[in-house]
Amino acid sequence: MGRLDLKRGAAAPRLVDARAADADALMQLEHACFPEADCFPRRTWARMVGPAAAAGTSRTLVLREGALVRAAATVLYRRGARVARLYSLAVDPVCRGRGLGALLVAALARDARRRGCTAMSLEVRAANAAARALYERLGFQLTGPLPGYYADGADGVKYRRELP
Ligand SMILES: CC(C)(COP(=O)(O)OP(=O)(O)OC[C@H]1O[C@@H](n2cnc3c(N)ncnc32)[C@H](O)[C@@H]1OP(=O)(O)O)[C@@H](O)C(=O)NCCC(=O)NCCS
Repeated sequence: MGRLDLKRGAAAPRLVDARAADADALMQLEHACFPEADCFPRRTWARMVGPAAAAGTSRTLVLREGALVRAAATVLYRRGARVARLYSLAVDPVCRGRGLGALLVAALARDARRRGCTAMSLEVRAANAAARALYERLGFQLTGPLPGYYADGADGVKYRRELP
């Protein structure tokens, strides 16, 4: 992973669809990236990379390194809805700042457009400066505050990006 830096011209790494067997590695990545209270229970990961992925209501792209998942992002699709929801985005702390977050969001935005979605939305902690800066750089616009949105009472904010 050390030489991988998209911002320094490295070739884009291969993002692949998560498999059911990735649920544990996804949980491990999430625990390295989020406070405990924000981590999904295992059954949520199992559903997202299992039945929901098979049914087309969820898509998770991952960057694998051996048995580890170094970066991952999930989009949820509601039947008949034209707005895709970016539900999770995580990059292993040792791999940050190299363009992987942007690469994942761009790949999922392309996927959403292919499926006929016209916009992508997401929620993020208001205090999460790194993620907010990334989303704003990728063209997401702030659409509203989410006071007390998180389990610990912290505020969130909502973003949306049109997918022309
Ligand atoms: C947010 C996250 C996915 C970004 O992943 P990444 O691979 O580092 O993203 P990229 O390399 O594509 O872009 C990094 C961008 O983050 C922003 N950033 C990073 N650290 C920052 C900081 N301390 N303050 C402000 N912005 C910061 C910058 O916009 C930076 O872009 P730049 O290098 O061009 O300035 C990663 O930090 C992460 O997993 N964080 C923990 C989980 C999380 O917050 N997920 C999103 C929740 S909705």
